[in-house]
Amino acid sequence: MSNTNATTDAHFRNALGAFATGVTIVTTKDADGGDVGLTANSFNSVSLDPPMVLWSLAKTSANLLAFKTNPYFAVHVLSANQQELSDRFAKRGADKFGGLVVGRGIGGIALLDGCSARFQCRTAFQYGGGDHVIFVGEVNKFDHSELEPLVFHGGKYAKVRPRLSIVGSASDEVDSSFRKDFLGYLLGFASSRLQAPVLARCAELGLSEEEYYVLTILVANPDSSVAEIDKMLALTGSYLSDERMGVLAAKDLIEFRDVGATRTLHLTEKGREASIQIYVVAKAAEATAEMVLDYDETMLLKQMLRRIIAKMLEHDNNG
Ligand SMILES: Cc1cc2nc3c(=O)[nH]c(=O)nc-3n(C[C@H](O)[C@H](O)[C@H](O)COP(=O)(O)O)c2cc1C
Repeated sequence: MSNTNATTDAHFRNALGAFATGVTIVTTKDADGGDVGLTANSFNSVSLDPPMVLWSLAKTSANLLAFKTNPYFAVHVLSANQQELSDRFAKRGADKFGGLVVGRGIGGIALLDGCSARFQCRTAFQYGGGDHVIFVGEVNKFDHSELEPLVFHGGKYAKVRPRLSIVGSASDEVDSSFRKDFLGYLLGFASSRLQAPVLARCAELGLSEEEYYVLTILVANPDSSVAEIDKMLALTGSYLSDERMGVLAAKDLIEFRDVGATRTLHLTEKGREASIQIYVVAKAAEATAEMVLDYDETMLLKQMLRRIIAKMLEHDNNG
């Protein structure tokens, strides 16, 4: 933690960014009856009785006059899958409502669908707050859904990830045992299920698991040298022996090119065809896992597994 005088914009913004918020879109109508709105994360609750909320608007906003003069506004607490909408409403001058189907609320104000919560307000107070105007609204109507909210933290969008103590853990399992709670067991079980169809396809094509790994490396890294392939294979606990290379070449799956003292490997047409066939099966197997995990969770799981693997390899290398 470092102390900084709020002298530089960037430092002050960064410090404010440490406060995680939701993301809202605030809408109203301008004097001509046109819909206006913008993305705002300055929203907060103020009072329960009477129900009041606040948010602040930059004095440079193209919509300042509309919000100052219209007695009503609506705050939409965005859900996790409304990030694009947030980006759209954060662009000045953009046709923010173009193509959107909107409902109508208090004062005829545009109401967006698919939100986590919505508050329809009558402006109760306006205060000057430096380069912003603070609007305090009395909530006339609100609605709330079960949709997960979008989060903003450190200048980036995020999603809510509850602490594990809330989600529950192996202790919730009726037949919980150390074996079933052991990370190695969980990974091994999931891995063998995910790998089974892949290995079955390899067998049909007359390929061993290790040979398949070499082909996948060559798809993503053509022209790799033996040393480079070995480095990538290390993640699988395997290596590229002369014998294995010989087998792959004899099966007409790879070919060699010698550039000076360096030997590089390339996929033949047959090798590329085999890799694609197995890749399709692997992706289908992965899709089974993705039926219970969303995209972010899948990416997070992969990231965490890579971290574990890297740590274990580091441990191996340090003896
Ligand atoms: C996550 C996020 C939060 C924002 N919060 C606010 C805010 O609270 N108040 C504000 O005036 N602008 C905020 N902005 C910036 C406005 O959305 C942006 O300047 C927009 O272009 C203003 O549109 P307008 O000038 O058409 O009103 C935020 C932008 C983002 C991406």
